[in-house]
Amino acid sequence: MKEKFYISTPIYYPSANFHIGHCYTTIIADAIARYKRLTGYDVYFQTGTDEHGEKIEKKAHEAGVTPQEYVDKIIEDAKDLWKSLNISYDYFMRTTDDYHVRRVQKIFKKLYEQGDIYKGEYKGLYCIPCESFWTESQLVDGKCPDCGREIKMVSEEAYFFKLSKYQDRLVKYYNEHPDFILPLSRKNEMLNNFINPGLEDLCVSRTSFKWGIPVDFDPDHVVYVWVDALSNYITTLGYPEDDTLMKKYWPADLHLVGKEIVRFHTIIWPCLLMALDLPLPKQVFGHGWLKIDGGKISKSLGNYKDPREYINAYGVDAVRYYALREVPFGSDGNFSEEALIARTNSDLANTLGNLVNRTISMSYKYFDGKPVNPKVLEEIDDELIHAVSNLKDIVEEKMNGLKVNEAIEEIMEVLRKCNKYIDETTPWTLAKDESKKDRLATVLYNLLESIRICAILLSPFIPETSEKILTQLNTKQTDYDSLEYFGKLEQDITLNEPQILFNRIETKC
Ligand code: MSP
Repeated sequence: MKEKFYISTPIYYPSANFHIGHCYTTIIADAIARYKRLTGYDVYFQTGTDEHGEKIEKKAHEAGVTPQEYVDKIIEDAKDLWKSLNISYDYFMRTTDDYHVRRVQKIFKKLYEQGDIYKGEYKGLYCIPCESFWTESQLVDGKCPDCGREIKMVSEEAYFFKLSKYQDRLVKYYNEHPDFILPLSRKNEMLNNFINPGLEDLCVSRTSFKWGIPVDFDPDHVVYVWVDALSNYITTLGYPEDDTLMKKYWPADLHLVGKEIVRFHTIIWPCLLMALDLPLPKQVFGHGWLKIDGGKISKSLGNYKDPREYINAYGVDAVRYYALREVPFGSDGNFSEEALIARTNSDLANTLGNLVNRTISMSYKYFDGKPVNPKVLEEIDDELIHAVSNLKDIVEEKMNGLKVNEAIEEIMEVLRKCNKYIDETTPWTLAKDESKKDRLATVLYNLLESIRICAILLSPFIPETSEKILTQLNTKQTDYDSLEYFGKLEQDITLNEPQILFNRIETKC
């Protein structure tokens, strides 16, 4: 039986159409999911939308529609965006779906009945856009430390979750599972800023607005949006009504989240799970933010384009590649169209595209598109064959450490070696000498085989291009097992005619 791998993105707020920052998280999750599938896992990849809350209620009101109508429209657009980015999710969840609403109500009731949730009064400083409560000392210049906007004092009768009760068990879990929170700096941040000062019980219901999941035994209250949202990771698996999928996929292997929501996923979520007596997720990775011109991508500033504009202009894989390659995973990075163009030209058009095109064209010119390997090897081949043969393991190591940009760079490095190998072996010179025909065939075979292996390893990152390359090679050796050793490219096939993979993008200046 295949080993399972459950990976999730956060569920996004559909308060406005999604921007390149949301695409960033989703593309990375997709690449990891595809990589795990390639390497033989039974992957469950979930994304979705977090549709309740005061902010959505307000937005809908401003737009003169119901909250449901408001979110329905954005979700349609989001699904279209994920399709145009080739996001291979297995399930798209929505917190307004009936089953989720019902199951969250059951979770809330269970916690109430067992005494982990109790009724009290809440007074606190609340940031509406972030749906977060803050203490005085956490504010920055009196404003929300996350978004910098005004906060307001809220006072209401409310239900509380006994977060404080789970503090010691949480710290123990951190200590016993050193890879639970990555990168490590985020774990230290959680301990120093939130846990060590002492966890306070969490307010988990609201009465100040209506657009949420009603507490079924006290319907003036709606469930706090973060309890509603975090539960998504298990309600979609049937919890608490059906345990078939829970048994198969829970605990999640990886919750991929942005750095500002690590605290919800590594403090509130594990404590809720402990209260429910469920295993905790294996890992939460907090990635950095994509910025524009060094600043936050902001719906209100409107400083970004619809990501489909980039896809239409440069191709889906140019956008995916840029998101995956440009920013060291975990750190913040800048998004700029100039850098996207530069990356596409240097890596995809020059290094990869030219290599594939030159190699297949030469195979046609000298051998009618038929790969043959007479194995007339020379010393110069060793380095290339060695590098290509080791690539699978190197990529595996990088991907297991979630060093996605480094995994890609390793593949690019091998592709650069292939280009260098062409320059050094000069097949066009070999072609002039009939006695070197077998050497020429060997050189081209080595290149075609290297391209095949790299194309398979690139498939999680740039799936459309990978498929185009493998189609041009006309090979059936396209699965992970075919990477077992160098030399699996068939010799009884005819390559398809060469096609340009990426045109160089000309810039105005
Ligand atoms: N709804 C909550 C998540 C609930 S998960 C149980 C939420 N939604 S969000 O739409 O505000 O953000 C969703 C994700 O998108 C977060 O991980 C956030 O970090 C990510 N990003 C939003 N803008 C981003 C960038 N500019 N760059 C990178 N990621 C960004 O929080």
